[in-house]
Amino acid sequence: MAEGQKKVTAIILAAGKGSRMHSTVQKQYMMLDGYPVVYYALKSFQDSEVDDIILVTGKDEITYCEQEIVKAYGFDKVSRVISGGTERYESVYNALSATEDTAYVIIHDGARPFVDLEMIHDSIFHVKEHGACTVAVPVKDTIKEVAENGFGIRTLDRRLLWNVQTPQAFSYDLIKTAYLKMMENGDIDVTDDTMIVERYMGHSVKVIQGSYYNIKLTTPEDMEIAEFLVKNRSSK
Ligand code: CTP
Ligand code: MG
Repeated sequence: MAEGQKKVTAIILAAGKGSRMHSTVQKQYMMLDGYPVVYYALKSFQDSEVDDIILVTGKDEITYCEQEIVKAYGFDKVSRVISGGTERYESVYNALSATEDTAYVIIHDGARPFVDLEMIHDSIFHVKEHGACTVAVPVKDTIKEVAENGFGIRTLDRRLLWNVQTPQAFSYDLIKTAYLKMMENGDIDVTDDTMIVERYMGHSVKVIQGSYYNIKLTTPEDMEIAEFLVKNRSSK
């Protein structure tokens, strides 16, 4: 890290069960063109300007990750492989608790292999400017709010709607305080980290343009799309 630079730590989340993928191997460890899915995100962060990487996984997968991924592929920016929790927010919280000496964190789903260096660079630039940012893409479909009775209530204004992805980057103190407030409050109904800083810190999140390629592997058809995309990438 250059003198005077503030430390940036990446948190790569790979502690989920992948239940919607319905596969025997958890989706983050399924093979994609010869490499486990989580390899791709780790490779991008390894090659980026982040200073340190924390990999979060299930407690039974720690040794596998250390040996077969971090060591095997030479990801020397990964300083720790730690165990996550039952819910995503618990995995993030464990990682936030495992680091205290960093100015910024950049949180990324290990199940999004197509994060690229530009997204990481832009996230770091904007978090330094705004304290919180996320990568997102404008929605392509019309989005309708639908009542439980199956009838539409209203159609939302598509020009204002974005699909939120990861990476999401935060000042460490901001996200850590937001998490502590959320835990204290006990009302944990969140699907991502930007919601937590909005809700508990009243902090606006800068939304930056990501990529439609930056998909999250969630269901089996996403693996088919990923197989196609990975073969069309110039390098790994
Ligand atoms: N994740 C995690 N810890 C959890 C839950 C999720 O680290 N307790 C991670 C996943 O490994 C994934 C990312 O968060 O990289 C996004 O979560 P999601 O796509 O929901 O993955 P899973 O929770 O594994 O899948 P599912 O919801 O289908 O069970
Ligand atoms: Mg999940």
